[in-house]
This record gives sequence, structure tokens and C-alpha cells, in this order.
Amino acid sequence: MAAAAAAAAARSCASHGGGGGGGGCFLLAAAAFLAAFVLVGASAHDAGDAATASHVMLRLEDIFPDSSSSSCETPPQDHEHAASSSSSSSSSHTRMTVVHRHGPCSHLSTADTQHRKPPPSHEDILAADQNRVKSIQHRVAATTSRAGKQPSFPTTSSSVKLPASSGLALGTGNYVATVGIGTPATRQTVVVDTGSDTTWVQCRPCVASCYAQREALFDPARSSTYSNVSCAAAACSDLDVRGCSAGHCLYGVQYGDGSFSVGFFAMDTLSLSSYDSIKGFKFGCGESNDGLFGEASGLLGLGRGKTSLPMQAYAKYGGVFSHCLPARPTSTGYLNFGPTSPPPATQTTPMLTTNGPTFYYVGMTGIHVAGRLLPIPPSVFSSSSSGGGGGGTIVDSGTVITRLPPAAYAALRSAFVAAMAARGYRRAAAAAALLDTCYDFSGMGGVVAIPKVVLLFQGGAYLDVDASGIMYAVRPPSQVCLGFAANDGDGDVGIVGNTQLKTFGVVYDLGKSMVGFSPGAC
Ligand SMILES: *[C@@H]1O[C@H](CO)[C@@H](O)[C@H](O)[C@H]1NC(C)=O
Repeated sequence: MAAAAAAAAARSCASHGGGGGGGGCFLLAAAAFLAAFVLVGASAHDAGDAATASHVMLRLEDIFPDSSSSSCETPPQDHEHAASSSSSSSSSHTRMTVVHRHGPCSHLSTADTQHRKPPPSHEDILAADQNRVKSIQHRVAATTSRAGKQPSFPTTSSSVKLPASSGLALGTGNYVATVGIGTPATRQTVVVDTGSDTTWVQCRPCVASCYAQREALFDPARSSTYSNVSCAAAACSDLDVRGCSAGHCLYGVQYGDGSFSVGFFAMDTLSLSSYDSIKGFKFGCGESNDGLFGEASGLLGLGRGKTSLPMQAYAKYGGVFSHCLPARPTSTGYLNFGPTSPPPATQTTPMLTTNGPTFYYVGMTGIHVAGRLLPIPPSVFSSSSSGGGGGGTIVDSGTVITRLPPAAYAALRSAFVAAMAARGYRRAAAAAALLDTCYDFSGMGGVVAIPKVVLLFQGGAYLDVDASGIMYAVRPPSQVCLGFAANDGDGDVGIVGNTQLKTFGVVYDLGKSMVGFSPGAC
């Protein structure tokens, strides 16, 4: 099976150059894709057929554009909408724009240049990413070991303290989208997070505290369609962490480093586009918020749990959504709700749903580096619930760097280092404890050939990582690192993070229980 997947991966690599985009795709996406993903042909280093698929060309400016000159290449259109032309199904379909939170296409960085805060350093981003991962792993372990035991608030107090063990992971997601909340709709730019369920925004009057956000605070008093969810409502008991104040349901979400949002669980109209809204959408109206949310107004929860957007709007969108995260901060991607005809190259892998709520588990089976399958026993990846010794693997749009079981990372690193050494690249210092395999590309003209990395999944699906997702630029060109990291323990859950998902259309289908990948989607 591995050999078949390997052959399929190799075929795809060879055809990518001409196949970027696919049927319903977009010229711009195809153009960006082609520019970023030029295969090395028959160079002096590579003789023979296998070698043509062993390396990809990385343009350093794609992973670290010159911020002084960068501007948004494709300004997001507010509330973009794609009409559902293939209306054989009754589900509707909405397309939104997704941008990098700190890039020039984000409302958060363009709205007010005078008060613009400098973007966080890579050290800060990587440290926050590690906190998120710890928090996810904590939550996964807690779910597995004491399923059903939910922390909750004291039932009468409105000044609640979150139990430290609740550990909902959020906050370090690097991609944002803009929604409208209330009637009339007010614009709220929120972190897009497939690793948590409950959507929330900071709300006026911020009874306890709000962190600084770019947009105006959502004010429930100014929305004619706002209502509080009562403690007696079934929806209140869907919350992982809940409380009750004067008959009103309270929610709480907390992040591993202490970031949190607490407030009233509310209902109002959520506008995803100017044509499409969800009435009575349940979300958190945050009265006490703090943490690493940048200047976003809140978070859009896209997990598998009952309170998530795809679950609340299951009847409307058929439990299907997809996203494409752009390769560069200066370009835009998308977040789609509802079934669309997938690009022809979409490959699917089963969504494994026996490991607990929220997260999108998939079955990883192996890794290719430079055209070769690494010698990693499959049991390293599979979780104990499926007979393996590992912690399983989730796909998480809010984690930056892909985390692998220690044995898998060791194999990846050694193959990557060998392939880089063969090309004579100079090593550089490790970065921020997380990224231990770094290179100095000074004086190499901004374009370098790097080993191709392909992640393999159950059912033969593979993620043929875009050149922009193989390495992470900490200080280019002098410190560019392999963009993967090892988990601490063999049993920790592996995470396919957003660096590696860039440019892929990633579709989540809750009805069919599958996750799909299509290359070159944005
Ligand atoms: C929601 O609950 C809060 C706190 O009790 C209250 O101040 C507010 O007026 C309520 N809003 C509505 C629309 O009932």
C-alpha cells in the first residue's frame, strides 16, 4: 500500500507544474502556484526520472516578503459570495476570504496604520504555537482518560474563574476571516480555528476586561436580533465549560498559556456574506477576555463539536466546509461553507471520529522525503484506539508548525539533512527551541532547491507539501528552518499545521467523515 501511495505521490509531483488549480479554480491561484512551485528539471544534481520529483524550488520571498514594500496582491472583497450554481443539492454555499492575520491583506493590519502594532516576532509566534500544542495535547489526553467529566462554573456567580484543566486551545491561529454579527451586521474579523468549537467575539460593555482589538466592539444593545441563551436551553449544556448567571448561560474557553474568553452565551445573526447569514447562531459574547488573539475581535470555531459553526449550520451547509490558506501573507485564500464540486485532484482520507470531540483526526501512514519513503513503522502514527503506539494525528488550521511523533520527526530530519548536505547548504543555528534544523541561504539569490516532503494518509491520500510549507523563515536568508517539529512523547497527538497546509484546498466533510486535500487551490 505504501508503495502504491509512493507511486501516486510521484505521479502527482510530476504533473503539478501543469495542473495547478484544477477545474473550477482560479487563474490567480494557478499563477501564484506556478510561480511558487517550479519543479527542478534535469539540473546538474539530478539525473534520472526519480530526481525530477525529489526537489522543489523555494522562493524565499514567498515565505518572508519584504515587509517594507509588501502590499496586498489581492485585496479581500468584503463578503464575497459565490452563488451555488450546481444546485442539485439543497445545501447553500458561501465563499469567504481568508488572510494571514499579520499580512497586508488583513483588516487588522490595514485599518489603521498609525496605531499599528509591530507584528509579533517569530520567536513569539513559535512560543505561542508551542503553548497551543501543549493545550491541545492536554485536552486530548483529558478527553481520552476521563471522558465525560466536564469542568463547569459555580452555578450562581457571574465572575467566574476557568478551571485550569479545561484547556480549550485557541488563540495562536494565524489566519483570519471577516464575518458580520447582529442586525445591522457589524464587521468582526475573527481567527479561523478548526481546533476549537465555540465561536466568540469580545462584547460591549466588557464587564471585566477586553484586550485591544482593531474593530469596534460588538454591542448587543445595538442589535435588534440579539438574545441571551438561557441556562435551561439545551444549547447551554452543549458547552464544554459553562455556568449560569441570573438565568443566563455563561460560556468559557481557555488557552494553555492563560488566554481566555468568558461571557454570555448568546444568539444572533451571523453573516458570512452579504447574501448569506445564519439566524440564531450561538456564540460567546465575551465580557472578560485576554490573551494572544492579536487584534482580532474573536474566534470562529470550526471543530467537530456541537457548538461549532459547521455543526450548528449542518442542515444549511451539509456539514461541509473547506479552506485554503495562502502561501504568502500578501495574498488571500478562502473559507467555503457548503458542498462545492471538488477540484479533480482532490484526494480523500477517512476522518477518524472515535478519538473524542472537536478535533479532525486523520490516519497518517508515512512520509516521503526527496522522493523516498522513510522507514517509519506505521504504528508510530496510529493511536492506541486503533492498535498503534502513537497518539494519532489531527489536522489543525490554528497550529503553525506540524508536530510529528519523535521517531517520525527523527527520520524526516535525517533524510532532509542528508539531502540538504548533498547540495552543500550551510547549517544555521536552531530557532526558538522548536525548529532545530536550520540553514543559511545567504548569497544564494533568493531561490533554493529543497527536498520535497510528502505526507501520506490512509486511503492513499497525500499532502505534497508546497515549497512554501516545507521550510519556515525565521530570519531569511540567514536562518531558514525545516518547518516541522517533534512531539515530546510517543503518545502525544501529531498535528498537521497551517504552514504545511498552505495552498491546499482542505475539505472537511462531516457527513461523509472524510478530509480531502487538493493541491494548488489558492
Ligand atoms: C443578556 O444578559 C445580560 C446580563 O444579565 C443583560 O445585561 C442583558 O440585558 C441581556 N440581554 C438581553 C437582550 O436579554
